[in-house]
Amino acid sequence: MIDLEGSKVLVTGGFGFVGRGICKALQTRNAEAVPVGSQEANLLDLESFMQLLDSVRPDYCIHAAGYNGGIEFNRMYPADILYTNTIMGLNLHHGCEYLGVKKVLSIMTSCAYPDTGMEVLKEEDFWNGLPNKTIRAHGIAKRILQTSAEAYGEQYDLKSVTACVTNLYGPHDTFNLVRTKVVGALIRKFVEAHLEGGDSVECWGTGNPMREFMYVDDAGEAIVQALEKYDDNSLPLNIGTGKDISIKQLVEHIVEAVGYEGEVDWNTDKPDGQMKKLLDISRMKSIIDISPMSVKDGIEKTVNWYSSNKEKADAKS
Ligand SMILES: NC(=O)c1ccc[n+]([C@@H]2O[C@H](COP(=O)([O-])OP(=O)(O)OC[C@H]3O[C@@H](n4cnc5c(N)ncnc54)[C@H](OP(=O)(O)O)[C@@H]3O)[C@@H](O)[C@H]2O)c1
Repeated sequence: MIDLEGSKVLVTGGFGFVGRGICKALQTRNAEAVPVGSQEANLLDLESFMQLLDSVRPDYCIHAAGYNGGIEFNRMYPADILYTNTIMGLNLHHGCEYLGVKKVLSIMTSCAYPDTGMEVLKEEDFWNGLPNKTIRAHGIAKRILQTSAEAYGEQYDLKSVTACVTNLYGPHDTFNLVRTKVVGALIRKFVEAHLEGGDSVECWGTGNPMREFMYVDDAGEAIVQALEKYDDNSLPLNIGTGKDISIKQLVEHIVEAVGYEGEVDWNTDKPDGQMKKLLDISRMKSIIDISPMSVKDGIEKTVNWYSSNKEKADAKS
């Protein structure tokens, strides 16, 4: 196990949603977290990234920079998503190998998994099929992270692993309507209906699909533990809570936290998507020790944060 105390950890995307959770977890170990956004170094430009690495000289790197969004964002910008995430991942591995970073951990998403109707996603099935067509560009770009981890390990002995992180929510998430995902979109809808005195909020589908949601700081802690303890570069490590809830239950938590008193209108003409999608966390539990916050408590914290920071949160691109 790596002892991170006193070490320097570069966190790409460190000012972003997941990156902030990772930096918090690093601080609890007295490690020096060095967050990097596109102002510090554009990861699409290898030279700019190499210069940054040369000036920071980190011991370790967690790659949490990304360009992604919800289903609509994936539909509108597949080429930009593929290009940006792929080039950032390749530059990251190339630069970290060249400048002698001791270990790299890259963040992936469950959209890199095959879409074969599996309800529980196990690491061993990672390569057994293609990602869903609607998110394929993002999924394939993430698979290149896994391939880079293996290739740079084989050829250059770079220690590099990946973690496949479930759906996250929490303060500093994206709430802008083009990029937001399910939790951010629902919180924004209900908070706005509450503020405007709306008497009905439309939600898509039946509300019956089961999904897993993890509070961002719990994910940050699990990701840092993966850097400390996970060494198998042949497969990603799933990171999640191991528990799913229905979209209807999620909405109930949001309604309660917001104090919304109107109707919820389930538009069953809209598709439900896959009925269940849960990461298998058996391997994670054998390596990582966390006590995830309940969705009820996490949603309450997120709604409170969003309500107090609405203007800034809605403007985050
Ligand atoms: N959110 C989730 O539920 C979730 C779940 C699982 C995995 N993930 C993964 O976690 C990663 C981060 O997601 P997030 O939700 O934290 O997104 P986010 O809040 O948008 O953060 C992404 C960060 O990436 C940085 N970035 C983008 N392009 C860059 C570039 N060319 N050069 C340098 N930095 C760049 C951005 O920095 P600037 O703002 O400075 O440009 C931004 O802070 C992604 O890989 C995502 O797939 C997210």
